Amino acid sequence: MRMIDIIEKKKKGEVLSREEISFFVTGYTKGEIPDYQASAFTMAVLFQGLNKEETAILTDCMMHSGDVIDLSAIEGVKVDKHSTGGVGDKTSLVLGPLVASCGAKVAKMSGRGLGHTGGTLDKLESIRGMSVSLSREAFIEQVSRDGIAIIGQTGDLVPADKKLYALRDVTATVDSIPLIASSIMSKKLASGSDTILLDVKFGSGAFMKTLEDAVTLASAMVEIGKSLGRDTRAVITDMDQPLGFAVGNIVEVKEAVETLRGRGPKDLEELCVSLGAIMLDQAGIEHDPDKAKALLRQKIANGEAYAKLKAMVRAQGGDTSQLDDPSRFTDVAGAQAVYAPKTGYIHAIEALTVGEVAMHLGAGRATKEDTIDMAAGVVLHKKIGDFVKEGDVLATVYTNKEEISPIIDMFTRAFVIRDGAAKQNPLIYTVIE
Ligand code: URA
Repeated sequence: MRMIDIIEKKKKGEVLSREEISFFVTGYTKGEIPDYQASAFTMAVLFQGLNKEETAILTDCMMHSGDVIDLSAIEGVKVDKHSTGGVGDKTSLVLGPLVASCGAKVAKMSGRGLGHTGGTLDKLESIRGMSVSLSREAFIEQVSRDGIAIIGQTGDLVPADKKLYALRDVTATVDSIPLIASSIMSKKLASGSDTILLDVKFGSGAFMKTLEDAVTLASAMVEIGKSLGRDTRAVITDMDQPLGFAVGNIVEVKEAVETLRGRGPKDLEELCVSLGAIMLDQAGIEHDPDKAKALLRQKIANGEAYAKLKAMVRAQGGDTSQLDDPSRFTDVAGAQAVYAPKTGYIHAIEALTVGEVAMHLGAGRATKEDTIDMAAGVVLHKKIGDFVKEGDVLATVYTNKEEISPIIDMFTRAFVIRDGAAKQNPLIYTVIE
């Protein structure tokens, strides 16, 4: 078999066989197929697409290009959820402990933030002492005992995707639905959970800008999961404004704690309860959505969900006294208010800009090598639909940087203020099963 023939075939829009797809994935991972042929291939895929079967085969081959985690030693249904990335998206910090407090097993591998989106690992590491690298044995033991662990990738998971994603990033071939879907799903499938819930966000702060694209991506991922025998569902959710009020690391951990204690922002709580109800159905714990939501709310009200977060943080070496008393977060940054430039209703809060503002304040990384200022970030005081008077405080920014007036200007422009009441977007658009 020759790579040039496979490229030629895809260039003409023909369907590839399992052997051909496997030849590409194995050869590229081992370094036997050069980058120039892999980039020609991904460009051919970008233009000609892959059918459902080809996409599932590509995912399967990528998933098996490295370690596949075996979680069978943990009793019960292991549930996982993945967000395609958003601004202020601290859902995993709330949802993980919440469903674990209902009896689901959460053995989660998360990632770090890059660009305008934050990462769960960075947020967790803003808690003093918290470790996100556990041995495979410690990970399994903790999930069996506490019901939850959230760590960074262990072992050599999906090396094919590491190479291919880096190549796509520099060859303008990221935005191909079958390539995105197989990239995300190969990693989720390799990390071993029995069920997968995908939170596919769309809007200004998301990877997918339109509802149509989000539905197409979600459907492709659900198809892959199903054809590879995993209970996979997707929820399409709004990312036209940040989720909750906080964007950063310490500020998001504080907001997650508040939410688990029943005092968080309504949108974040609603999203976590809705996603949680689907996960409890997947876990076989409660199939009736209303009863599942009631159970989740009960776990927030009776403190069990928050106790789960603390159990996880304690087990991973973190200082739980910071969670009980947020003034114990000793990393502090200077605070500055952002004021409304005019009177009116807030019609939009450009999530992408807010994410970039947080990154420029020090809360995120422009490149993988950048270090993060855990205390930096923003806290909104207003959301879409709120009425503001000129001079009202729209948000507070936290930073250790000195010259931030251009960042404040950029942030102020993210708020679209107009006369007349604003339309509220639904938080959840649709569920794809
Ligand atoms: N996220 C991924 O993990 N892969 C992609 O291809 C795009 C976004």
